[in-house]
Amino acid sequence: MPQKAWWKEAAVYQIYPASVCDLNGDGIGDIPGILSKLDYLESLGVDVVWLCPVYESPQVDMGYDISDYRAIHAPYGTVQDVDQLIAALHKRGMKLVMDLVVNHTSDQHAWFKESRSSLDNPKRDWYIWRKPRWDAEGNRQPPNNWASVFGGSAWSFDEETGEYYLHLFCKEQPDLNWENPDVAQAVHDVMTFWLDKGVDGFRMDVINFISKTPGLPDAPVTIPDQQFQPAELHYADGPRLHEFLRGLRGILDKYNAFAVGEMPGVKEEAEVLKSVAEDRKELNMIFQFDIICLDNGRNNKFFPKEWSLPKLKAIVHKWQTCMFDNSGWNALFLENHDQSRSVSRFTPHRPENRNAAAKMLATFMGMQAGTLFVYQGQELGMANLPKDWGIDEYKDVETQNLYRLALEQHRGDPDGAEKVMDQVRLKARDHGRSPMQWNTQKHGGFTTGTPWMRVNEDYLHCNAEQQQRDPSSVFAYWQRLLRLRKQHADTFVYGSFELLAADDPAVVCYRRVHASAGAATVVLNFTDGEYAWEAPPGVVKAWEGARRILANYAEPGEIRKHSAAVVCLRPFEAVVLLEERKMC
Ligand code: NOJ
Repeated sequence: MPQKAWWKEAAVYQIYPASVCDLNGDGIGDIPGILSKLDYLESLGVDVVWLCPVYESPQVDMGYDISDYRAIHAPYGTVQDVDQLIAALHKRGMKLVMDLVVNHTSDQHAWFKESRSSLDNPKRDWYIWRKPRWDAEGNRQPPNNWASVFGGSAWSFDEETGEYYLHLFCKEQPDLNWENPDVAQAVHDVMTFWLDKGVDGFRMDVINFISKTPGLPDAPVTIPDQQFQPAELHYADGPRLHEFLRGLRGILDKYNAFAVGEMPGVKEEAEVLKSVAEDRKELNMIFQFDIICLDNGRNNKFFPKEWSLPKLKAIVHKWQTCMFDNSGWNALFLENHDQSRSVSRFTPHRPENRNAAAKMLATFMGMQAGTLFVYQGQELGMANLPKDWGIDEYKDVETQNLYRLALEQHRGDPDGAEKVMDQVRLKARDHGRSPMQWNTQKHGGFTTGTPWMRVNEDYLHCNAEQQQRDPSSVFAYWQRLLRLRKQHADTFVYGSFELLAADDPAVVCYRRVHASAGAATVVLNFTDGEYAWEAPPGVVKAWEGARRILANYAEPGEIRKHSAAVVCLRPFEAVVLLEERKMC
């Protein structure tokens, strides 16, 4: 049985500062705006706020390019505003987690400016500089064939000093050189600065990228028609990662602070456990990418890939049992600022079934073991941007780069542009970044000015104000779900996980079991149609006898008994059945 901890029982609400609430009318969300919404967050029932980067930044990658770790991007507010946010959350018994982005800085950070100023500057070695390679024709080439995550080479040439620097993301995001102990020390100091202010922990951006294969060798060619190659093999989970993580943990421990690491590209259980198994003393949990990469195709995410429900279930089963059996812990999430809206992506639906689908997905995630992350707007069932918006409405640097690359790769295909656009409509990061829909006022009540990004026009029928008044809303469902998770924490947080009907193409069914507290059965129809499900006998028994503690249809569904019992599920139906142990 897992050891108990506050962070295991917590629900975390992720805030994308540009898009929550703009109080000063400049069209960009701000920290005072966030402060004005704390009643809303408290009434939803979340315990922790994770604030995406609010630090000083040229905003090439929306704040993930930091030019000063100790200052706040002026449109968001000031350091004093963050102080106020910490105090206001603590007063409510809530916590604040900040983003820690230390694989790279902005090229406008003072450290990088110094580093690029000369070959012998003391900070030269704080970043990863290499001499050019020269090809047979005498042309200058990058030091290796690594592709940047955002497309193109991961290296940029600096004319002044005649060397290339590494950037796994945009060229404005140079990678720090963690091989230099001064870098780790500087990061520890930044953490200490915020922890001293009362921050309760960090979400660590691409933290498994901080140790690279020594010598930075070429990556194997896996996409032959592309000059630069995916190189995660050489920068994800490198040889010194765990040593560096233990260094970070040393700082966290002084404050009893919490850490969730973002770790793209790590798939092996044994490797993930190295970071999150309790006795390793590294991180509390990581964001693992199997589910959110399920439908990403060859080359880049704007290539499609078919996915099936059995495959999704196999992933859930793998991570649920792995963590339970090995004293690790899961971070549960379907959305964040790098993903599109789950209701549009994973549950294609008729408009009348959108709310049922959003509630079903909430149940799918929310009844699993792990710490639950809710991304702003997910609690309303916010959807992807309208299909008729053109590519110019998509502001994200990744979307624009990968869109161009995908178009090139479809050269000669008359339907290429439409195929790429279909994927943009499905998976671009922009879908998760559109402003929060608070009410039916202009721009959904997000701003009185001109919003930095257009508000999804469906705010007229999908907004917080209406949903807070409506007991059948997606918001009200999330409230109930979060409450139940707390009331029955032994079962839903700490219980074991058992997958049923693994091969069924339409239904997800799992049980959560706790020896003394009780067991719960979760049944979910992942389709937009009625589904006659020949359920296992145990589920039929629970359906008939157990307490229906959460459901997205008011009336219980029907069971028909012929040769076997068939549970008649309605579109996107979700039911949670609880069998409590009787105390004698
Ligand atoms: C992951 C962040 O979540 C994403 O938004 C960002 O673009 C990259 N890391 C680079 O920092």
